[in-house]
Amino acid sequence: MSALAQPSTESLQAIRSAFLDFVDDPFYVSELESVRYIPDGLLVLEHGRVKELGAYDALKDKYADLPVTSYPGRLIMPGFIDTHIHFSQMEMIAAYGEQLMEWLYMYVFPTEGKFKDKEYAQKIAALFLDELLKNGTTTALVFTTVFPQSADAFFEEASKRNLRMIAGKVMMDRNAPDYLVDTPDSSYQDSKALIQKWHKNGRLLYAVTPRFAVTSTDEQLEMASRLLQEFPDVYLHTHLSENVDEVQYVAKLFPESKGYLDVYDRAGLVRERSIFAHGVQLSDAEFQRLSEAKAAIAFCPTSNLFLGSGLFRLGQAKSEKHPVHVGLGTDVGAGTSFSLLVTAHVAYKVMQLQKRRLSPFEALFLATLGGARALYLEDKIGNFDPGKEADFVVLNLQSTPLMALRNPEPTAASLKELVDKVFSLIVMGDDRAIQATYVMGKLVSGTAQ
Ligand code: GUN
Ligand code: ZN
Repeated sequence: MSALAQPSTESLQAIRSAFLDFVDDPFYVSELESVRYIPDGLLVLEHGRVKELGAYDALKDKYADLPVTSYPGRLIMPGFIDTHIHFSQMEMIAAYGEQLMEWLYMYVFPTEGKFKDKEYAQKIAALFLDELLKNGTTTALVFTTVFPQSADAFFEEASKRNLRMIAGKVMMDRNAPDYLVDTPDSSYQDSKALIQKWHKNGRLLYAVTPRFAVTSTDEQLEMASRLLQEFPDVYLHTHLSENVDEVQYVAKLFPESKGYLDVYDRAGLVRERSIFAHGVQLSDAEFQRLSEAKAAIAFCPTSNLFLGSGLFRLGQAKSEKHPVHVGLGTDVGAGTSFSLLVTAHVAYKVMQLQKRRLSPFEALFLATLGGARALYLEDKIGNFDPGKEADFVVLNLQSTPLMALRNPEPTAASLKELVDKVFSLIVMGDDRAIQATYVMGKLVSGTAQ
């Protein structure tokens, strides 16, 4: 190669540590085929993307001139992906005493009313993104509010940080306070303008976001469908079958529908790139329909327990016969933590209550490559394959005295040792275990060693 054709070392960087990511789905293939673990690895980046990941010994001579940032005793994983969260509900997390419908009317709607003020929305968006990054979450699918300026505020802050985020203005034209409703036409116009402004603007993507069937008329759901037809590669993001009272209410509001999912299906909203939060009350036939349509579910265990909604049937969703794409969602403010480690921990307990086992690798798959697949972003994020955007987290398995006692030797020598260590990370870890978060190869939160 001539000197000119060689990549300049300035655009290259390298990180040395232990690395864990997934190359396939451990729900369906063996750990040996799905888990990639390199106890002493070198991750080489070029212009913020993965160039190569391999054993340090195998790569050190090839990249001998490159400055290396080392994280000894740490574990590096792809950035976590939160497939369902509300930025407007950050400040009312931990609202006492109610289940879904009462909780919405008592706590959520008054809070979301504040987001009419763009400056306020901007302030919360900045705090929200800082909190995500502190928790190692580098991509999220985000509900804003009914006010288009709150979506603008969110996208502007995410753009400043060069984050891969998906969000949308909430569409809601009934069964909510007057100060919080739009109309089918205004929701269409506002969403369209936001799509034109933000979809594929840098790393940002747009999701058409009807809140749920309760707060949208048929006319508004049709408008959502029209947007998807006009802009086929935008997302559809909504709530589905979370709570028993909600499901009954939807049956009353849409007597001609066969069930909750059918309300969305009749409107043409069940398709690839449709992400439905919760699905706790879904029937087997509805799971099957989601599988056929290649739609996805955001499993939000901390929220489902906090609101007393129920136990999501992950076993059914990940069945061999009718597999459904699933990601993990924190669902803050019904969810009680921004941390996907905590969310994975609670997912494990939700499965225990169903006499099922969620392995630590399955849980971490959901938080990374599984989330990327659910969001149809597998070509861009989710693992360390060459060409992917280098969003990653540096995990400290000794981040508290108790975790240090539990993991006296932080680096696993084998996959068998690793299972035990990462299980303790999921059960005991939270934002303190996130030593650093990198976005497109840049340190954006935490510390370099
Ligand atoms: N269903 C409709 N809106 C919401 C919301 O804001 N949070 C949750 N958890 N469920 C919903
Ligand atoms: Zn939600």
